Amino acid sequence: MEQQEKKLLAAKASLDYVKSGSVVGVGTGSTVNAFIDLMPSIMNRIEAVVSSSRQSTERMEGLGIEVSTLNATGDIDIYIDGADEATKHMHLIKGGGGALTREKIVAGASRKFVCIIDDSKQVGMLGGFPLPVEVIPMAQSFVARKMVKMRGQPIWREGFVTDNGNHILDIHNLQITNPLEMESRINQIPGVVTVGIFAHRPADVLIVASDKGVRAMGH
Ligand code: A5P
Repeated sequence: MEQQEKKLLAAKASLDYVKSGSVVGVGTGSTVNAFIDLMPSIMNRIEAVVSSSRQSTERMEGLGIEVSTLNATGDIDIYIDGADEATKHMHLIKGGGGALTREKIVAGASRKFVCIIDDSKQVGMLGGFPLPVEVIPMAQSFVARKMVKMRGQPIWREGFVTDNGNHILDIHNLQITNPLEMESRINQIPGVVTVGIFAHRPADVLIVASDKGVRAMGH
């Protein structure tokens, strides 16, 4: 089965988690795009929608879906998003698409986080995928030096500006044996806006699509 087909399967499986009257948070990326394209069929169940990026907002508005703001809706019932890596503990790396800060905010404001992935994203330990870190531009080199001290190899995502006007460093070769500790440690570096480890607020449900079909973990 092609990867895109698996993404569609995972997105379809997540529709059942959207209960009637829900405020829905919508993530970013190609897997979530499959979810967005299915949203018109469940709009009768959706009370309001909050987006995690300009990209997702544009896609939803293109389908005639009205997008609200987190300030207007208050807490979110269910957040649907993809990931770049996921462990069986539901710890994630996110931010391959650069939307990690708004994704972390929306995840943090959500009662339930349903993560949709294909099986290529499942890992035993996080860090094979370069860890995205959003930084205030003036702190970029300073944060990069700190990451080198933590044995990572930071690469500036050149030419990329986040929705918040910041830069991204992609940290290669990190072995993230303790995601909770590493998330806190990187977060504390002055100039770091968000680190793409989602461990303190992990996914609640992990939907994994593979050649064998779809499997959901958690509740
Ligand atoms: C966006 O910033 C990311 O966190 C995405 O959720 C992640 O990169 C997954 O994207 P795909 O669904 O395109 O693999």
